[in-house]
Amino acid sequence: MKDPVRIAITGAAGQISYSLAFRIASGDMLGKDQPVILQLLEITPAMDALNGVVMELNDCAFPLVQDIVASDDPNVAFKDADFALLVGARPRGPGMERKDLLEANAAIFSAQGKALNDVASRDVRVLVVGNPANTNALIASCNAPDLDAGQFTAMMRLDHNRALTQLAQKSGKHSTDVESMIVWGNHSATQYPDLAHCKVDGKPALELVERDWYENDFIPTVQQRGAAIIKARGASSAASAASAAIDHMRDWALGSDGIVSMGIPADGSYGIEPGIMYSYPVVCKDGKYEIVQDLAVDDFSRERMTATENELREERAAVEHLLG
Ligand code: NAD
Ligand code: LMR
Repeated sequence: MKDPVRIAITGAAGQISYSLAFRIASGDMLGKDQPVILQLLEITPAMDALNGVVMELNDCAFPLVQDIVASDDPNVAFKDADFALLVGARPRGPGMERKDLLEANAAIFSAQGKALNDVASRDVRVLVVGNPANTNALIASCNAPDLDAGQFTAMMRLDHNRALTQLAQKSGKHSTDVESMIVWGNHSATQYPDLAHCKVDGKPALELVERDWYENDFIPTVQQRGAAIIKARGASSAASAASAAIDHMRDWALGSDGIVSMGIPADGSYGIEPGIMYSYPVVCKDGKYEIVQDLAVDDFSRERMTATENELREERAAVEHLLG
């Protein structure tokens, strides 16, 4: 039997966590042989609801769950955490852009970055889901000076998975037939889902689909998918976001099958200068992610990669006072 790992989830009484916590508890994230201790964080007014979630988790009698901690204190919920999934934040409503949440949510991530810095495992892997995810991840990492910035990541996997299925459906194949999908930049309407390196069943995607569909249908559909879900459901994506968070953490911990997209600290690769959390194509192996280098970037791609970079720099400028 492996030693249990500690997994902190914030916003644990919210709609994403209502799927996420149960799937993690059942072993979907780290495998059916990995015992877990769940450390659930909520704000004080939501503690009754959180206790209800804990009751339900207990009622599942999950074989892998060794303990459940429920708290409104980040220093308790993050104590010795090996993984932290920062979900707790306000979601947007119809007509809002994710960056409209910056002011409401930014303070959460500076406080939680500090708490992670103080009490989490020195090897903690952090995934920020709460929007605007990239800039919140930047805020958290800047407030955790004793941890490596690379331990903080932002969720782009939902965009990546959305892009896989859009392309698979268009080409009459399955999402598992698609390889080397890349989503660059920000988890926002400026993100750039890029088919230039993508293959379906071994064939270049751009030879299978019309250019017009790529530019005028595929890219905007993936960019606007979150808003389309809010319009249809009356609430933002939840189960698909939880599933993407599990994919992100599982691949980071256990290795990816080829290229995946992760929001990580920009390091100058592809001309994206440091100071923002930018989504790159990465491969995960041995518990680490590495940027896939030396992919050709044409003018069409460069223009879109720069637009989403510029938006992240504007978001950064708006929260400069929280960056420590
Ligand atoms: P929700 O409102 O259902 O749940 C959020 C929960 O967070 C609430 O229970 C709230 O009490 C809690 N919370 C608020 N402040 C907190 C704090 N300081 N500490 C701990 N918990 C706190 O929202 P949701 O639908 O679960 O979405 C959560 C966030 O995830 C939103 O910001 C949403 O926009 C974002 N999101 C991101 C992605 C992505 O791809 N990155 C996808 C979907 C949703
Ligand atoms: C999503 O992409 O579904 C989430 O970020 C929620 C949103 O506000 O779009």
